Amino acid sequence: MEEKIAVYPGTFDPITNGHLDIVDRALDLFDKVIIAIAINPKKDPIFSLDERIGMIEKCYQAGDSRVQIDPIGGLLVDYAHKRHAKAIIRGLRAVSDFDYEFQLALMNRKLEREVDTVFLMAGFRWIYISSSIIKDAARHGGNVHDLVPAHVEQMLKRKFGHS
Ligand code: COA
Repeated sequence: MEEKIAVYPGTFDPITNGHLDIVDRALDLFDKVIIAIAINPKKDPIFSLDERIGMIEKCYQAGDSRVQIDPIGGLLVDYAHKRHAKAIIRGLRAVSDFDYEFQLALMNRKLEREVDTVFLMAGFRWIYISSSIIKDAARHGGNVHDLVPAHVEQMLKRKFGHS
């Protein structure tokens, strides 16, 4: 039977427990999930591409062969098509996410009809977090212990000189 592949794109600056929760949910529906570190021209990440890849890789060190990590340039739908992905996964946290996500999904559909967008609801514990809000808290020495994996917390502390 054909393998069902989904691409989960984002900037992941850095990856959070909310993102990991979405990956877990996607793995219940798809055989393989590719975490695609994509370029959002509106963002200026604090972590380099290599750092972001490294942090995600460490989350799956135990080796879940159903999760793959890949940086992508260019159009997301072209990448999804090339990888024979059936779907693009996006997490929805609150109604405020919807307008942007709706626009993104429709544009992606216009660009490539064969790839659908699947929205998954983030777990209740994670609906208020985003990478920016976590970075903001960490920058000022706030405790983000429960919101990101331990190694990401260390990277944030190091980045902001709190280690
Ligand atoms: N838990 C925690 N945070 C979450 C979350 C979850 N479950 N789901 C979303 N978020 C947060 C992210 O942390 C991020 O926060 P931030 O803005 O503070 O960094 C925000 O919600 C959404 O950003 P993210 O998921 O990283 O996506 P993005 O908006 O940066 O990504 C791309 C957009 C990269 C997918 C999009 O620009 C893209 O597809 N680029 C490729 C080029 C392309 O094809 N362009 C045409 C698109 S039509």
